[in-house]
Amino acid sequence: MTSGAQPASAGGAPASVPRHVAIIMDGNGRWAKARGLPRAAGHRAGAEAARAVLRAAGEAGVQCLTLYAFSSENWRRPAQEIADLTGLLRFYIQRELSNLHKEGIRLKILGDHNAFEADVAKMVDKAVEKTAANRRMTLAIALNYGGRSEIVRAARAAAAAGEIDEEAIERALDTSDLPPLDLLIRTSGEHRLSNFLLWQAAYAELLFVDTLWPDFDGDALRAALADYARRERRYGGL
Ligand code: IPE
Ligand code: IPE
Ligand code: MG
Repeated sequence: MTSGAQPASAGGAPASVPRHVAIIMDGNGRWAKARGLPRAAGHRAGAEAARAVLRAAGEAGVQCLTLYAFSSENWRRPAQEIADLTGLLRFYIQRELSNLHKEGIRLKILGDHNAFEADVAKMVDKAVEKTAANRRMTLAIALNYGGRSEIVRAARAAAAAGEIDEEAIERALDTSDLPPLDLLIRTSGEHRLSNFLLWQAAYAELLFVDTLWPDFDGDALRAALADYARRERRYGGL
């Protein structure tokens, strides 16, 4: 490297900026409880945090932000909570779609969103379609997503195509068109993956923070990126 310049990645950002950041947005319920509010208020505040973090990620030069919004295990929650989360998704897409499009952000879905009510599934499809050609950044939302079932689906697709090796599975994962996962963040002090991006996390840098998701903001994202920039990735080598 000459004159201290950072090598530029494809997106023009310094190489120490992760290309792909994924976040397990956890702690909405506890945030609400601490304020004597219903859990739904925590989810609403969480959606606002997602907006702020998306903006900060884009400004920092992150190419892809993946947000875990609903796991395949979250169907175990009470019907009212599922209805609240579905309603929030509907509201968020309605309100944000034109902004995402204006900002050059492509929306991508991981998991099977067709399990949600038909109108929501359709709305999601339309949003994905409308933003498909956008290139500045990708926002991937994991909806009814589970890492194990993603791997099973990918292995089946690879087998049907003739060969099951790592490349074939990679190509069949929901994330096949995303950059490799560089940084995986979980908020709320829980130290587990909860079935998120199991394959992709193999060599991702992991960051667990105590902040509850609704309190996570642009500054928190910038602090996470600074933490990432200090790390040395070895991939098993020296
Ligand atoms: C994360 O917050 C949002 C979703 C899982 C949809 P939680 O709802 O899990 O909040 P806690 O973990 O109960 O505080
Ligand atoms: C993981 O959080 C799923 C999302 C953030 C969408 P959970 O709150 O569902 O995970 P567990 O149950 O604590 O493992
Ligand atoms: Mg939780």
